[in-house]
Amino acid sequence: MTPLSPAHAALMAGMHHVCFKEPWDAKAMADLLALPGSYGFLAGEARPEGFVLCRAAADEAEVLTILVLPPYRRAGLGARLLAAAAAEARVRGAAALFLEVAADNAAGQALYAAHGFHTVGRRPRYYGGVTDALVLRKDLGVDHTARPMI
Ligand SMILES: CC(C)(COP(=O)(O)OP(=O)(O)OC[C@H]1O[C@@H](n2cnc3c(N)ncnc32)[C@H](O)[C@@H]1OP(=O)(O)O)[C@@H](O)C(=O)NCCC(=O)NCCS
Repeated sequence: MTPLSPAHAALMAGMHHVCFKEPWDAKAMADLLALPGSYGFLAGEARPEGFVLCRAAADEAEVLTILVLPPYRRAGLGARLLAAAAAEARVRGAAALFLEVAADNAAGQALYAAHGFHTVGRRPRYYGGVTDALVLRKDLGVDHTARPMI
């Protein structure tokens, strides 16, 4: 996994275009990457396969967008990107990780449910004025196993 940088904005926009009905352009990606606390990871060595873009602020972090290009799906990459996002959120001091997913996105919801996310809210007609968004939260907890025994 390669940490995302502003140099990746155009590549990210091209990948977003493949995966979403309302894609974000390169300027939107560059603006998000420039926000304080933004971070993310690009997967794929010779060829890009997917990425996750997040933002951490105070004790919370949010997945702004995550995608895996169609040829690379159902091979665990989405889960690995999500795990990298959560690990970095912990490093940055976040106690919880949030994201929004379309109510009709079965693949996304299945991925998130399998990785400890729970629905905590619903935004009516959030996508295109039509589709509801579900707000999901994952408790990042504390790794007690990492503490010395005293
Ligand atoms: C959602 C997405 C990132 C999943 O990426 P992925 O690499 O295929 O996910 P994984 O292979 O890590 O899947 C992990 C688990 O999620 C669930 N899952 C993933 N895709 C699924 C699908 N199409 N249908 C049902 N469950 C699915 C399964 O539980 C899967 O485990 P399994 O393969 O052992 O059954 C990918 O489908 C994608 O990019 N979709 C388009 C963009 C998008 O919707 N992003 C999320 C917006 S919030």
